[in-house]
Amino acid sequence: MMELQDKTILLGVCGGVAAYKAAILLRDMRRAGARVRVVMTESATRFITPLTFQALSGEAVYTCLWDDRIPNGMPHIELSRGVDAILVASATADFLARMAAGRAEDLLSTLTLARNAPLFVAPAMNRQMWEHPATRRNVGLLLGDGVCFFGPAFGEQACGDEGEGRMLEPAEILESLIAALTPKRLLGKKVLLTAGPTFEAIDPVRGITNLSSGRMGYALARAAMQAGAEVSLISGPVELAAPYGACVTRVTSALEMRDAVLKDAPTADLFIAVAAVADYRVEKAVSQKHKKESGKPPDFKLVANPDILAEVAALAHAPFCVGFAAESENLEKFAEEKRKRKKIPLIVGNLVQDGLGGKTNRVTLFSEHGRYPIPPGDKNIIARRLIEHIADLLEKTDAGTGRRKNS
Ligand code: PMT
Repeated sequence: MMELQDKTILLGVCGGVAAYKAAILLRDMRRAGARVRVVMTESATRFITPLTFQALSGEAVYTCLWDDRIPNGMPHIELSRGVDAILVASATADFLARMAAGRAEDLLSTLTLARNAPLFVAPAMNRQMWEHPATRRNVGLLLGDGVCFFGPAFGEQACGDEGEGRMLEPAEILESLIAALTPKRLLGKKVLLTAGPTFEAIDPVRGITNLSSGRMGYALARAAMQAGAEVSLISGPVELAAPYGACVTRVTSALEMRDAVLKDAPTADLFIAVAAVADYRVEKAVSQKHKKESGKPPDFKLVANPDILAEVAALAHAPFCVGFAAESENLEKFAEEKRKRKKIPLIVGNLVQDGLGGKTNRVTLFSEHGRYPIPPGDKNIIARRLIEHIADLLEKTDAGTGRRKNS
């Protein structure tokens, strides 16, 4: 993932048990391409050392308002300038209170007061501290001041209590941050996607499936969420975590995928069919496991599965439909043929040897306007480029609604 390439983030860490998760968050932000500066409160250094953050960020870590490593003697100004965002994770009840009151008594609180970048906070505290009227008041004030909250989550807490107050997991905070920094090109749009393989049962233990990992579809769902869309993802059997904030429906067979898609399609603005749907299913799966002792191979008849994408594209009020074509040769010819046969405005072509199952891909878009190659790379980056391109096309379609009327 390089979604934070060219971004500089100031990570503020406060004193609480969740401070250790800030180290994981820092590592993940770096993997996403960000440059990260760390500022810790004095109490944060009791939970985790500045050296850990220095090693992970590759930069000096600051804790003190009077740090003489900053030549002009104004670290609160110097450190908050030139950053794309300030993210305080974990943010304690005390830190929220100090920010709400506009206090400037240590480097981190002074810096958030002197900032000219957006401020995000991921609170972490005991549930009673989170529910306390004073904290509720402070959160209200901070929201009114334009501070954006990530979480907290509900769950088991370090003190043994269970409730709301636990910091979001680093991966969820990272997704929220990327989303917050992404232009909202799909705001107000409902995006429906399919991803992964389907599994067509032969008997209770065997079936027909393929090598799709779901990564391309999940990356697109995540990129659409980050661009502000409401996302419904219909997923075949894969091992991936749901994109944070998306509505995920898990299905097994092509028929189940079709039912789930047709339920949501009438209200969708955009449909992206990434799933590698089995073209055929077993007409009658048997309920008992086939025994090889019978001396005969399993005997089954294959019947064609419905073409989900073509059905959606033929709806009376069809969403803007984007298909995928996975080919092993003649990509341009076969992808264009598929686009025309399924009557869709855009198809994304990829060779199976480039994109099936792995983390990277190489895709070319085919539309009535011609072919448009996207540089090869990580599927998350390709997904963001694709969403940008689709947003451009949507803006040109029916004044941005994406809908087409099929008469
Ligand atoms: O999941 P990954 O490991 O990340 O791999 C990604 C991918 C290679 C699976 C993906 O990039 C891709 O190419 N998906 C489409 C795979 C495919 O099977 O294409 P197809 O040529 O069979 O189908 C063409 C289009 O019709 C696709 O959009 C497909 O979702 C759709 N289709 C196909 C058959 C069917 N019965 N219903 C459909 O909706």
